[in-house]
Amino acid sequence: MKNKNSNTKIQLKSISKYFKVEGRNKLVLDRVSFDVKEGELVGIVGPSGCGKSTLLNIIAGLIEQDKGAVKISAIPWEKRLGRISYMQQKDLLFPWRSVLDNAILGLEINGMFRDDARQKAIGIIDTFGLRGFENQYPFTLSGGMRQRLAFLRTVLLDQDILLLDEPFGALDNFTRVKMREWLQSLWESFNKTIILVTHDIDEALFLSDRVYVFSKRPGRIALEQVVNLKRPRDRKIVISQRFMKMKKRLLERLFYE
Ligand SMILES: Nc1ncnc2c1ncn2[C@@H]1O[C@H](COP(=O)(O)OP(=O)(O)OP(=O)(O)O)[C@@H](O)[C@H]1O
Ligand SMILES: [Mg+2]
Repeated sequence: MKNKNSNTKIQLKSISKYFKVEGRNKLVLDRVSFDVKEGELVGIVGPSGCGKSTLLNIIAGLIEQDKGAVKISAIPWEKRLGRISYMQQKDLLFPWRSVLDNAILGLEINGMFRDDARQKAIGIIDTFGLRGFENQYPFTLSGGMRQRLAFLRTVLLDQDILLLDEPFGALDNFTRVKMREWLQSLWESFNKTIILVTHDIDEALFLSDRVYVFSKRPGRIALEQVVNLKRPRDRKIVISQRFMKMKKRLLERLFYE
């Protein structure tokens, strides 16, 4: 079992966000508050358009909230951009860069020399199942490999906090099951704090310590589900009674949205 301590790593206090659409302010996030402790994995599920990606953009520092506050332990608020690893909903691989050079993009942007960055990537490329593909281009990769590459790029930044937005979104069900087990084992081996956005309830419950269900836009927290299942979790856990009971609760809540 992973060591967790009770230090709060991320604190969201009543976050609201408006977007201007055709001259009118549209409320997208409505007073979202929750804490994430160091080493925790928190899942977010909710209807399309409820503001999940917007919330991750705010936490990462790409956009600002209109109301409320985000506190990240040990990182001054205005310096959080680049201090949090963020895998966005689209994999954003550059077709003209090789696998290896896509992997090191973030490191290069952070000012690391290319050769040093490549060495660092080569050191962990095995774990991501990309050994032997270093010099290939993204179009030659399968969907699962592309997502592992985007994930490798995120992990290489080596920040304590990872934000993952539908990291396995484009994959078929069977590959997703394998990828979530892989993510579980990876997460067990490194002490990271993760927020995972997914539309897949099984995936959210399987991986998370806690899951938040968001309402439809404007996104509010409609339900909190603590996932007290011991780790490491086996793939069969999704058909256990305890799992199904939690899943039913989440689905019922989502049906209302
Ligand atoms: N830059 C923007 N300007 C105006 N509206 C925006 C902008 N970005 C997002 N929106 C709107 O805000 C709402 C929330 O978008 P967001 O991408 O956060 O949803 P989401 O929950 O991630 O959805 P999905 O599950 O489909 O990824 C949507 O209605 C979207 O159209
Ligand atoms: Mg999204």
